Formats: sequence, structure tokens, C-alpha cells
Amino acid sequence: MKKKIVVLSGAGISAESGISTFRDSNGLWENYRIEEVATPEAWNTNPELVQRFYNERRKQVIESLPNPAHQFFHELESGYEVVIVTQNIDDLHERGGSKHVIHLHGNIRYSKSSGPNQERKYYPINGWELSLNDLCDEGYTLRPHVVWFGEAVPEMDKAINHLIDADYLIVIGTSLNVYPAAGLIHYVSNSCKKIIVDPKASELKVDSSFIVLSKSAVESVSELKKIFGLE
Ligand code: APR
Repeated sequence: MKKKIVVLSGAGISAESGISTFRDSNGLWENYRIEEVATPEAWNTNPELVQRFYNERRKQVIESLPNPAHQFFHELESGYEVVIVTQNIDDLHERGGSKHVIHLHGNIRYSKSSGPNQERKYYPINGWELSLNDLCDEGYTLRPHVVWFGEAVPEMDKAINHLIDADYLIVIGTSLNVYPAAGLIHYVSNSCKKIIVDPKASELKVDSSFIVLSKSAVESVSELKKIFGLE
């Protein structure tokens, strides 16, 4: 049976594809207020602004390409069972070839109902623009398929089920600031081998059981290849 690798990824893995992170200098949350664009309250008070914000994000994602770090996780599938648990709403893991991706915070290429049955169905968005006139099957306005601050994270249980029997955990490109996602690293077993990749790894709250690669995602690929026997 193949060994299982779970990858917990965040905005940093897509930085070298040209997509801004949230908390680095000039990150998204330095230029936008979370309360104005990424909460249910923001959607209720100013849906035009929220829609415009995510339309811009979607356009940027569509114009971006997966980088060698995304592609590396696809290559790993030749020798391992690989499950990507990503906080990213971009689809660069999928476009990099990864077969098994869990989107904790949603997928910006999709929309969902703003009515009571939000998780029943996700609607693919054609192109980059979602309009407030676009409706779900039940007649409610479609909203981006993203998890906003203050909302439940429906994919958590699925992610936990993969972490508990992971042989390896690779944490890459996340500041581990946002819960419940950041708490996932505590679900692995004592025998799980843990690696963290982040240029600012020394500033992150992880214990000494992690192998630390203080490099960018792309720069870490050759070392990761050695660790997993791909070279
Ligand atoms: N390669 C690897 N890591 C990088 C790179 C890079 N090229 N560039 C930056 N990083 C690291 C940063 O050092 C930082 O630790 O990526 C991390 C990005 O952290 P955040 O911006 O906080 O992003 P993330 O952890 O994914 O945010 C979690 O917050 O607002 C929300 O919902 C949003 O999913 C997001 C969540």
C-alpha cells in the first residue's frame, strides 16, 4: 500500500504564480478590510463590493498558472497517496494535476446559493464574472463559493479523517493564523513525519518535531524531491 502524504497548503504556494498572499507586506488584507469584503455581514450590506472583490480575485486566478511547487505535488502521486488540503480558493493545485484536493475555504471558480441550502450544489462560473443577477436553481442570488470569516468550514471533518492516518504532513505557504484550518496540524499521529516550507518558517508556531525548509515553495522543490525519492 502506498504511504499517505497530506499537504496543508496556503496562499504562499501560489505566491510564485503571482497571486497575493493575505498577511505578507502588501498582502490582500493590507489593501482591503476583511469586514468589508469577506464576511456574511459584508455580503448583506454591500453585495456589489463583495462581488467585485471576488470577481477581481477570480480574474487574477484565471490569468495565473500553476508553478513547479503545485506540479511537484502531482508528481508525488506516482509513488504516494497524496491528499491536498488547501486553504486556497484558487484552482492551481487542480491545474497542476493533483487529483485529490480538499478546499477548506471554497473554490473561487464556483458559486453557490445565498439561500438556506448553500452547500447542496456548487455551480461552475463561466469566465471571471459573477453577477448579482445570476440565480441558483431555487431563485436565490448566487454568491462566490468561498468560506467567509465567521462561517462554518464544511470540509473540516473530511480533512481530519485524512490527517489522522497520514504518514507524512507537508505544511506549505500558510501563516497558520486562521482557525480551524491551522489546528489541523495537531491531528496527525506521533509517527507522522512533518515538514514545513515557508521563507518565514522561523516565525511560525510549530514545534521542533517539524523538519523546517525556510525557502519559497518553488525553491524547496528540489529538496522535497530528495526527501521523497523523486530524484
Ligand atoms: N513560498 C512559500 N511560502 C510563502 C511564499 C512563497 N513563495 N511567500 C510567502 N509565503 C508564506 C508567508 O511567509 C506566510 O507564512 O506564506 C504564508 C502566507 O500566509 P497568509 O497570507 O496568512 O495566508 P494563509 O495562511 O493561506 O491564510 C489563511 O486566511 O484570510 C484568510 O481565507 C484566507 O485561506 C486564507 C486564510
